[in-house]
Amino acid sequence: MVASIKLLLFLLGLFVSLKLLALAQEENQFIYHGFTGANLLLDEIAEIHPNGLLQLTNTSKHQIGRAFFPFPLQFSTSLFNNSRPFSFSTQFVFAMVPELPSLGGQGIAFTVSPSVNFTGAYATQYFGILNSTSNGHVISIDSAPVTYFSDEEKENKSLTLISGNMMNLWIDYDEVERLLNVTVAPITSTKPTLPLLSTSLNLSSVMVDSMYVGFSSSTGAVASSHYILGWSFNRSGQAQSLDVSKLPSLPPQRKPGRKPYLRIAVPAIAAIILLLAISGAAYIIRRKTYEELREDWEQEYGPQRFSYKDLYKATKGFAARELLGSGVGYIAPEVTRTGRATTSSDVFAFGAFMLEMACGRKPIEPEQSAEKMILVDWVLDSWKKGDILRTCDPRLEGNYVVEEMELVLKLGLLCSFPTPAARPGMSQISQYLDGNATLPEMLPLDGAGIGLMPDSHEEPGDCTLSFHRSNDYSAISFSSTDSILSCGR
Ligand SMILES: *[C@@H]1O[C@H](CO)[C@@H](O)[C@H](O)[C@H]1NC(C)=O
Ligand SMILES: *[C@@H]1O[C@H](CO)[C@@H](O)[C@H](O)[C@H]1NC(C)=O
Ligand SMILES: *[C@@H]1O[C@H](CO)[C@@H](O)[C@H](O)[C@H]1NC(C)=O
Ligand SMILES: *[C@@H]1O[C@H](CO)[C@@H](O)[C@H](O)[C@H]1NC(C)=O
Ligand SMILES: *[C@@H]1O[C@H](CO)[C@@H](O)[C@H](O)[C@H]1NC(C)=O
Ligand SMILES: *[C@@H]1O[C@H](CO)[C@@H](O)[C@H](O)[C@H]1NC(C)=O
Ligand SMILES: *[C@@H]1O[C@H](CO)[C@@H](O)[C@H](O)[C@H]1NC(C)=O
Ligand SMILES: *[C@@H]1O[C@H](CO)[C@@H](O)[C@H](O)[C@H]1NC(C)=O
Repeated sequence: MVASIKLLLFLLGLFVSLKLLALAQEENQFIYHGFTGANLLLDEIAEIHPNGLLQLTNTSKHQIGRAFFPFPLQFSTSLFNNSRPFSFSTQFVFAMVPELPSLGGQGIAFTVSPSVNFTGAYATQYFGILNSTSNGHVISIDSAPVTYFSDEEKENKSLTLISGNMMNLWIDYDEVERLLNVTVAPITSTKPTLPLLSTSLNLSSVMVDSMYVGFSSSTGAVASSHYILGWSFNRSGQAQSLDVSKLPSLPPQRKPGRKPYLRIAVPAIAAIILLLAISGAAYIIRRKTYEELREDWEQEYGPQRFSYKDLYKATKGFAARELLGSGVGYIAPEVTRTGRATTSSDVFAFGAFMLEMACGRKPIEPEQSAEKMILVDWVLDSWKKGDILRTCDPRLEGNYVVEEMELVLKLGLLCSFPTPAARPGMSQISQYLDGNATLPEMLPLDGAGIGLMPDSHEEPGDCTLSFHRSNDYSAISFSSTDSILSCGR
């Protein structure tokens, strides 16, 4: 099964603008085994390691990394006097090393653009190239599940792009044939005779005289480290084959173990112990004024605090093995674009918290089946199937008031709505929870599920070719999912 193939995108964006670049060089071919001394234009978090490895992104969330050849290349057909049709050929070796075994970042986009100024581009869903202004303008042209044709076995074999392994990718365009081919294969394989995608396309309408070539990559709520190890490009013939033995090596990888959270858990536990110790110390220091900090509602409902002494005893002096809990926050999708937390983004976080409490699990559990992996999707799906209660924490053993459980689950979904305006206000929420207001008649709409995991909501593993044209620019793209293309829904 290729269930773990998620999100891999290769995108060729050709943006036409009136701005022509004066820096154009005659250079129209190059080959890099590693990028030491390549002088690439690096943007956002992209960096080149001392061994020449190009790292576009690391596993930081909602980040962009770009790298472009330092000079624009001549793409004009006139240069070749129409006797030499416009064509190009490129090969690169990449690796995508996901943070969690079966969930990757947004992917890598091979990009051809008249400018390297991508001001306004978003990381999540847009590869660091486009933003929501492009919604509704991008049309998918072609797509295929990610496979390669094995010449020995004479059959298509599936590939897990986020396996962390090095892979080869070729893009060839020939203007006489008007065909754009995309071919992918494991690093150990030679170029398959059959491409993955072979699509007829007239690119001359979107090319300007000089254009930059390079890569853009991004991460979302889940992330991968995206690497490029070698790259050859040719405007005047087949791109030279890369020599695998000359490529830089990848950093050592964590073996995907049974406990992917361990790496996060150890520092988190340490931090929590430290916090508990600090608050314990603060408690001792402020002991005398402590009674004054008691809030009104506590008088009505009784003491809601544990004394430091009790905590210390219960946790055997805050021993790591006696950890009481931790508080893996939730980032609303709009916060990744605006960078600003608002009351609606607090509501989003509260919704995620309600679902987490009611269902007794984390928002994303990669070890679960695909159906249950993303909590919001699972609750929404179960609601649509008329069985929302199947999602509640089995450890409750049915000991809850059905109406209250349904209320919390539906309210959790409502608060997790991707559109901030659709989320209720905090005072409405407390009215719903107190039973002073009834939830609005809602339909379990598609789309509520894209809140927590905007970037992995799509079916995994497709390579999509799309074409986009507006007054400002045109683009063709191919990607492994249509997530950037369908965000207008
Ligand atoms: C990713 O790279 C950025 C910029 O170099 C850095 O600030 C950040 O700490 C890195 N994140 C991780 C997870 O290594
Ligand atoms: C273009 O082609 C014409 C005739 O085929 C030739 O005379 C001219 O020199 C060519 N120009 C360039 C720039 O190659
Ligand atoms: C990049 O483009 C934006 C508008 O899209 C412009 O405001 C900005 O000055 C440009 N930056 C550079 C360095 O050219
Ligand atoms: C998208 O990017 C363009 C070009 O930089 C910018 O003019 C526009 O305001 C951006 N749109 C949004 C919604 O951020
Ligand atoms: C694209 O693939 C087709 C089918 O294998 C082949 O006939 C054609 O020559 C290829 N074109 C390029 C530009 O590689
Ligand atoms: C392999 O995949 C290619 C491209 O998707 C397709 O054209 C071809 O028919 C497939 N071949 C086999 C044997 O499945
Ligand atoms: C391809 O596009 C160019 C530029 O728009 C146009 O001149 C040419 O006729 C087109 N070719 C075909 C076969 O449509
Ligand atoms: C580009 O193509 C030409 C003609 O096939 C070949 O001689 C040259 O080595 C190629 N260069 C690269 C960098 O691929």
